[in-house]
Amino acid sequence: MLAAGGIADGRGLAAVIALGADGAVFGTRFLASHEAAAHPIFKRRVLTAHAAEAVHTTLFDVGWSQAPPRVIRTKVVDEWELAGCPESGKRPGEGRPIGTMRGRGIEVPLVKYTVAAPAEYIEGDLESLPFYAGESVSLVREILPAREIVKKTPKKPAAQFPIASPHLQNKSPDARSRECWGSPRERSAREGRAEVESSSRLQASGCWHPFRVPDRGTRGCQWTVRWPAPSSEFH
Ligand SMILES: Cc1cc2nc3c(=O)[nH]c(=O)nc-3n(C[C@H](O)[C@H](O)[C@H](O)COP(=O)(O)O)c2cc1C
Repeated sequence: MLAAGGIADGRGLAAVIALGADGAVFGTRFLASHEAAAHPIFKRRVLTAHAAEAVHTTLFDVGWSQAPPRVIRTKVVDEWELAGCPESGKRPGEGRPIGTMRGRGIEVPLVKYTVAAPAEYIEGDLESLPFYAGESVSLVREILPAREIVKKTPKKPAAQFPIASPHLQNKSPDARSRECWGSPRERSAREGRAEVESSSRLQASGCWHPFRVPDRGTRGCQWTVRWPAPSSEFH
């Protein structure tokens, strides 16, 4: 039995093994590898994204509907939300050509809201494509060869791991929180906007964005997080 979702280092692996898994699937961690076919723009964005920006959404559905993934918040997501999360067929720029996928002698034109990820074999408006990433994105801060990622994932029991990931050790809870969720300024820009936009209108529209549900008390983040808060055991 393999655990998946939010696991990107030895600490997460040890944690799920302690819970009874035989191993873990790392998704986002390997996206930021030399071998991944993701476009460099996509890989670089992964390195700066915070978990709270990995929104769970039904927005990208051309080619595969009813399968909401997590994507890093981009201008397309913002634009759709500002428009009130209109349903498929009524979204801003619907059907607009945004690029071309090329490979093995074929050329596939892509339109806005396609599910195609920004890969190195795609040309066009890459920022309009879905930047898939899980909540583990906060833990991914360098692009490495896949073998280095495996080598850097220590296999030892959970109890032998310090409370914080290596890059967060010796930092205050506030600094750890900033590292995972952004600076207070970034957070208030994000969450302030969420409060303005996400009134009952947004909820009534049924738009699937846990993070966008207004909640001053939990400051937004905890809606998307299934792990302990960043300042406790997680980091
Ligand atoms: C680039 C990318 C593509 C993905 N494609 C799929 C997919 O086609 N089907 C699916 O079920 N999950 C897909 N996922 C989600 C992974 O299953 C998910 O990332 C996995 O549960 C691991 O979580 P993690 O990214 O936090 O490690 C994708 C994730 C990424 C980052």
